[in-house]
Amino acid sequence: MHGAQRRQAPAGDHEALTAAFAGGEAVINCAGPFTFTARAVAAAAIDAGCHYVDTSGEQLAVKDLFDTLTAPAHGAGVSVVPAATDGCVPLDLLASLVAARLGRVEEMRTVHLVGAGGVSRGSLRSLAATIGDVRSGGLVYDGGDWRAGTPGRRGEVLLPGRRAAVPEVVTIPRHVRLRRLEGLAEAGLGERLSSAPSPEVIASLPEGPAERERRAQRFTYLAEAAGAGGRRVRGIAEGSDTYGLTAVIAVESARRLVAEPPGAGVLAPAQAFEPAAFLGFLGAYGVRWAVEDGPERDGSVG
Ligand SMILES: NC(=O)c1ccc[n+]([C@@H]2O[C@H](COP(=O)([O-])OP(=O)(O)OC[C@H]3O[C@@H](n4cnc5c(N)ncnc54)[C@H](OP(=O)(O)O)[C@@H]3O)[C@@H](O)[C@H]2O)c1
Repeated sequence: MHGAQRRQAPAGDHEALTAAFAGGEAVINCAGPFTFTARAVAAAAIDAGCHYVDTSGEQLAVKDLFDTLTAPAHGAGVSVVPAATDGCVPLDLLASLVAARLGRVEEMRTVHLVGAGGVSRGSLRSLAATIGDVRSGGLVYDGGDWRAGTPGRRGEVLLPGRRAAVPEVVTIPRHVRLRRLEGLAEAGLGERLSSAPSPEVIASLPEGPAERERRAQRFTYLAEAAGAGGRRVRGIAEGSDTYGLTAVIAVESARRLVAEPPGAGVLAPAQAFEPAAFLGFLGAYGVRWAVEDGPERDGSVG
């Protein structure tokens, strides 16, 4: 970037990191695995008076920021919005719109369907850092708390899918009152997420998928909910190039936090941004989305 200053600091040195962020308006943390860096980088951003976003899909690291940094973020008057990614932001925003349409939500399920495409070294390192959580069955939100290792409920799903461990969206219960929330992914993704190559193998791989490969990849994300009377509503977002979209979402999230500060604290995307407006913005990047009644038959949730 022309004229940009470059400052370096180790993630483990709070004073140096805070000094590096000083004078900035927002920090975009891309230094995964976030299991090891998110709290340190976010704490330094807060102390430097900067808003914060990251590109973490590591759900326990996301949850940790809500659990530990809400008070400091409030005190500093800054907004912290973790998980500014292609999957978490659309699903969190859709969940908010689905809940508004349904009224009272009993159960919700998020579904990730991501077509074949390469993964970056960084994603594989994040996966390796969280593989224990993945193999233990991941997280299910049930009765007001997240529980690890709870078997997902079976049932026909709208699209071929089954429960996998990583793609929960822990931000959703921050703003949607519900009894149960779980995440599913299609079987192929679930299998890919259940194993991670060794650090040596990861280091020998290309940095990430080629642009042609990224553009050919397609994704579908669903947030499906059932209400008390059995009524169902679902939100759907479709697009391509999860990595390119994550970059757009992270930068736009930081830009909005600076331009239209939503209030201090650690916030879910739907608490920080107007859901339909943000999803509408993503339309310029090929994302199509809708919130609709149905399906009428069971098979989607429960
Ligand atoms: N969920 C999503 O949609 C999504 C999409 C894209 C990316 N991501 C996540 O974003 C992260 C970045 O992905 P990527 O492909 O860009 O990974 P990458 O190429 O490995 O980049 C990570 C960068 O972070 C730096 N870093 C890591 N730990 C650090 C520390 N303690 N102190 C200083 N620097 C540190 C690394 O520096 P060195 O090279 O010097 O180690 C590297 O430059 C990954 O965790 C990935 O999971 C998520």
